[in-house]
Amino acid sequence: MKQKNGFSGQIGFVLAAAGSAVGVGNLWRFPYLAAKDGGGLFLIIYLVLVLTVGFTLLTTDIAIGRKTGKSAIYAYQSMRKKWKFLGVITFLVPVLIMTYYAVIGGWILKYMTIYIFGSGKDAVADNYFTNFISSSSSVWFGIIFILLTVIIVYNGVEKGIERVSKFIMPVLLILVIGIAIFSLTLKTTLDDGTVRTGLQGLKVYLKPDMSGITVHKFLQISLDAMSQLFFSLSVSMGIMITYGSYVKKDVNLNKAVSQIEIMDTAVAFLAGMMIIPAVFVFSGLDGMSAGPGLMFVSLPNVFYRMGFAGRIVGLIFFVLAGFAALTSCISVLESIVANCMEIFHVDRKKTTGILSVIYLIATAVIALGYSIFYVEVKLPNGSTGQLLDIMDYISNSFLMPFISLLSAILIGWIMKPSWIAEEMELNGEKFSRKKLYNVMIKYIMPLIMIILFLQSTGLLNM
Ligand code: PHE
Repeated sequence: MKQKNGFSGQIGFVLAAAGSAVGVGNLWRFPYLAAKDGGGLFLIIYLVLVLTVGFTLLTTDIAIGRKTGKSAIYAYQSMRKKWKFLGVITFLVPVLIMTYYAVIGGWILKYMTIYIFGSGKDAVADNYFTNFISSSSSVWFGIIFILLTVIIVYNGVEKGIERVSKFIMPVLLILVIGIAIFSLTLKTTLDDGTVRTGLQGLKVYLKPDMSGITVHKFLQISLDAMSQLFFSLSVSMGIMITYGSYVKKDVNLNKAVSQIEIMDTAVAFLAGMMIIPAVFVFSGLDGMSAGPGLMFVSLPNVFYRMGFAGRIVGLIFFVLAGFAALTSCISVLESIVANCMEIFHVDRKKTTGILSVIYLIATAVIALGYSIFYVEVKLPNGSTGQLLDIMDYISNSFLMPFISLLSAILIGWIMKPSWIAEEMELNGEKFSRKKLYNVMIKYIMPLIMIILFLQSTGLLNM
């Protein structure tokens, strides 16, 4: 098969794929879940799942991509004609995610400017965040973010995506390690004289909290970890298929998969080390919220209480969050561009240009979902949300488990796991977790995905 223009080698690929995987999910969801779900207990469960479920999903996507040399739609079609529909559904996930990811990226940009131009005091005013997202300026920040993404994708895989990832990922790693160490040195004395330290916070994070643990609670924690893992590795949405299709045949995929797993998990773990002790010291972990609330409300409060250092830490934090979001957003747009290039046979520049117009409009519409286009919908999983949450729900909670289920059936039972193994052993490498892979893809993944799917659609209430 003709080799497409792609990554220059293993490092470029691993950093770009890790760039996709490391995103706001690592920063605002992982620490929250760890704090809520028994600290070290969550960490252990998550780690086991990364090495089993995460490994299986990542291997499947990347091997499909490299073996077929195509993006999702044609990759599935080339395996079995009748399964093209799975490619189409998979393609829908980035199409939907792209409508709102730049909106979040825009929020991060806005907060960056708060720490560049001021002390960060603004951000702690009551309702600051809600007022901002319902103002028209949120649209502009979203648009800037999408333009940044477009410029990089427009420049191509090696000159755009790989080059940016090779710069961003090492910097991101240094920044997250830096703030994590700083967090451990924090200390405060409460009104009643008790002293709270970062190291105590670290203990809360790492120590498995087994109090009140029941089978039911254990399952719930496992489900939390599972859905986090899914979102975090950017699997089952065609992104890793597209990136896989750009990998040279001589790259050792076994090593690449392990490196991506390690990097994504390491950043998530370090994000916990950076956020949990800081929140613990300054506001107690009860105040730790999930999602946007953590990043845009709780953390700015923590930064403010740090005094002058908080302004610098705040700035570094939002720069690193912005980097994380940018490399993820790039991967989402790239997989849409790649599929469209294959469908319409149009070159990269034209495809990116047309898609940029579509997504500028989409980003504006979703950003205005907190003002002009405000809706409040009750989602099947029990939460209520605006336009952004609806898109997020359909793509992540609904489509992703469904896609993984079908892809496990296709690979496990129709193509057979040896189809993947051939690609993993292409250059005579050892497919090190081959037996595990076979059992996972045939039996365990379908079971897990059915449970996740039933849970997210509200049909199974845990
Ligand atoms: N994996 C990214 C994260 O953990 C999120 C993401 C989802 C990126 C979907 C791209 C596509 O935040």
